[in-house]
Amino acid sequence: MYIFEAIKKKLHLFQINLSLVAVPIIAIDGVIENKVQLPCDIRSNNNDEISMVLWYKEGRDEPIYSFDVRGRRQYSNARLWSSPSALGPRAFFVTATNPAHLSIDRLESTDEGIYRCRVDFRNSPTRKQRMNLTVIVPPSKPVILDGATKAIWGLEERYNEGSDVNLICEVRGGKPPPKLTWYLDNTVIDESYHYDTQGGLTVNHLAYPKIGRQHLQARLICQASNTNLVPPQTRLLVLEMNLKPLIVQILTKETRVSADKNYDVECRSSGSRPNAVITWWKANKPIINKEINNYPIQNNQSLSILSFIPTIEDDGKYLTCRAENPAIPDSALEDKWRLDVQYQPVVNLRMGETLNPDDIKEGDDVYFECIVRANPKVYKLAWFKDGKELKNNSTAGVVLSDHSLVLQGLTRYSAGAYTCLAANSEGKTASNPVSLQIMYAPVCKEGKSEVVVGALKQETVSLVCSVESHPAPLTFHWTFNNSGELVEVPHSRYSHVSAPGTPDGQKEYQQFRGFRLNYTPATEMDYGTVACWASNQVIAAGRPYALHNCSATEMSAPLDMEELGTKSGTGLVVRCLEGYDGGLPIHSYQLEVVSDEDGGPILLNKTVPAGSNGPTFEVAGLTTGRSYRLFLYAINAKGRSEPAILEPVTLKGVAMYTTGEYI
Ligand SMILES: *[C@@H]1O[C@H](CO)[C@@H](O)[C@H](O)[C@H]1NC(C)=O
Ligand SMILES: *[C@@H]1O[C@H](CO)[C@@H](O)[C@H](O)[C@H]1NC(C)=O
Ligand SMILES: *[C@@H]1O[C@H](CO)[C@@H](O)[C@H](O)[C@H]1NC(C)=O
Ligand SMILES: *[C@@H]1O[C@H](CO)[C@@H](O)[C@H](O)[C@H]1NC(C)=O
Ligand SMILES: *[C@@H]1O[C@H](CO)[C@@H](O)[C@H](O)[C@H]1NC(C)=O
Ligand SMILES: *[C@@H]1O[C@H](CO)[C@@H](O)[C@H](O)[C@H]1NC(C)=O
Ligand SMILES: *[C@@H]1O[C@H](CO)[C@@H](O)[C@H](O)[C@H]1NC(C)=O
Repeated sequence: MYIFEAIKKKLHLFQINLSLVAVPIIAIDGVIENKVQLPCDIRSNNNDEISMVLWYKEGRDEPIYSFDVRGRRQYSNARLWSSPSALGPRAFFVTATNPAHLSIDRLESTDEGIYRCRVDFRNSPTRKQRMNLTVIVPPSKPVILDGATKAIWGLEERYNEGSDVNLICEVRGGKPPPKLTWYLDNTVIDESYHYDTQGGLTVNHLAYPKIGRQHLQARLICQASNTNLVPPQTRLLVLEMNLKPLIVQILTKETRVSADKNYDVECRSSGSRPNAVITWWKANKPIINKEINNYPIQNNQSLSILSFIPTIEDDGKYLTCRAENPAIPDSALEDKWRLDVQYQPVVNLRMGETLNPDDIKEGDDVYFECIVRANPKVYKLAWFKDGKELKNNSTAGVVLSDHSLVLQGLTRYSAGAYTCLAANSEGKTASNPVSLQIMYAPVCKEGKSEVVVGALKQETVSLVCSVESHPAPLTFHWTFNNSGELVEVPHSRYSHVSAPGTPDGQKEYQQFRGFRLNYTPATEMDYGTVACWASNQVIAAGRPYALHNCSATEMSAPLDMEELGTKSGTGLVVRCLEGYDGGLPIHSYQLEVVSDEDGGPILLNKTVPAGSNGPTFEVAGLTTGRSYRLFLYAINAKGRSEPAILEPVTLKGVAMYTTGEYI
């Protein structure tokens, strides 16, 4: 009550002062369509009574409203009047408040202006108060546009993680022009706007750099306000974002896998929004496979399961799981798995590359290479001929080394099917068989070269001649020999017999051919030796045949050589004929001289190169009267022939010694 009195006094003083100078003006804001109160103090200072309150609006001579209590005891009985051309029924003077006020309903823009109230007291002087009523027109609801396209922002639009937000907030109208403010959740982020008088638009352009995951579903609000009297106009945008995947992981990385087994490989990715697209790659090539199943799982994770059957070729390659948000460039994450594919050995056997498998003869050397691919490494490599395991045996010319087999000094029995076999922890594998065929001249089957067959005169005997050779004999004929007379048996008298079958396939390399002769002795002269001859033109390289027709001639004149160190030496010239060279050229000849008496040490060892003269040796320094034995050899790359022996040679004077025709 005390405070109330004090205010009253103060107001009174104030009014008196101003009524002398100028009536103060109170600014009042009202919002269009809303209600506004224009205050007017009607209290008297000294319990005086009001007779009348009159309202004026600047620009009109007549009052626009009157409150008349003359002759009434109570305010509630006051006579009220409102000018219909001004506020009409929208105005009502309220005395119950302090201060009293003129209430105007449904404010119109034409209501704006300077108002005056005049309070007439019964005794006290009249009081005047002035008010400046401003009618505020709130702005329309803001509109949000995409900063780049200027299109109205749609609900479905999304920002990529890391991109810049570029938005325009626009608001039309408003009196006075509104303030436009951008909020991110509850924080002001942009208060800069401009007003375009012509278009009546207020615009705030928001550029917010590099939004991150933390901004997902943040609320961006554009607020337009030009008064505190009514709530601001706002537009809300919930920031929808595309997020990059954060994690990608192959969950089932086995340290090793076996070829041709099925594996379900799982890969999980999280962090992407919308869910990551998972793809699989092998050695940087995409796996396009219906055996991939993708599942969205809890917490916005993606799971992909690849049903994968590794092959041998996959060993050492990388299997990659890639998670990507296709909306965000360069958002892919990868996890790689290096495949250790284990498999049974893959074995391939071949004959040495430098060899011609169609031209292998007895005495040759061959080698095989066993080519093995395996993971893990093979712990065993074995070799087989016709199913029988081969062992290292250098005396038999069988040498097994790392991944090769060497066969030295082939015989026709070396022919057969060769295989190698490799084993590792995944299993063992036998190679393809490689057949070794060895060419050799025909030989009588099973070594039976001579058979005695008895026959009566006029009896027909069936003579069968079987030979083995590779390749098969080209020519074949029969001869008949009766004490020195060798005659051809006419072709008409014999026939081919098919080979006695070789069902046991391992011997397929040995070609048997049989020939049958039906022979009927007619006279005594028809008994003798029947021989069969086969030839296949295989030249087996071997040592040369022995020299033959050797002869030694004593020389009267000493030679200019003193090999035996004897002073009065006598010389010999030894000449021979060459036999078959064994299929390889003869490169030298050798002579060994030993004493005939004691058969002792070699007295002279002499080698001469082969030349146009044929085998010719000159020997000096032999002791006259002593006997010697001369051993003569031909030598080619395969070795030394059997010796031709010239004995005994006794130097007496000029003489000539010869060997037999053939040794
Ligand atoms: C009334 O207020 C308006 C702004 O609301 C102003 O422009 C005008 O000058 C004021 N009039 C007076 C007389 O103070
Ligand atoms: C997953 O995505 C949905 C909407 O797609 C979201 O409401 C939720 O928070 C996300 N969860 C996680 C863990 O990110
Ligand atoms: C080696 O080969 C020779 C000749 O074929 C044979 O006699 C010998 O038994 C073999 N040695 C072994 C250890 O097999
Ligand atoms: C076979 O013998 C050779 C030497 O003669 C040797 O180098 C090789 O390792 C042996 N192979 C096997 C399997 O014993
Ligand atoms: C002919 O037969 C005789 C006696 O069986 C034998 O000594 C001789 O070497 C044979 N001659 C030929 C060329 O086969
Ligand atoms: C004879 O000489 C040759 C080479 O000229 C040699 O290889 C051979 O071993 C010698 N023979 C003997 C028994 O000394
Ligand atoms: C070899 O010697 C024999 C006698 O032993 C003879 O008949 C033959 O003609 C000789 N050969 C040559 C080519 O001189």
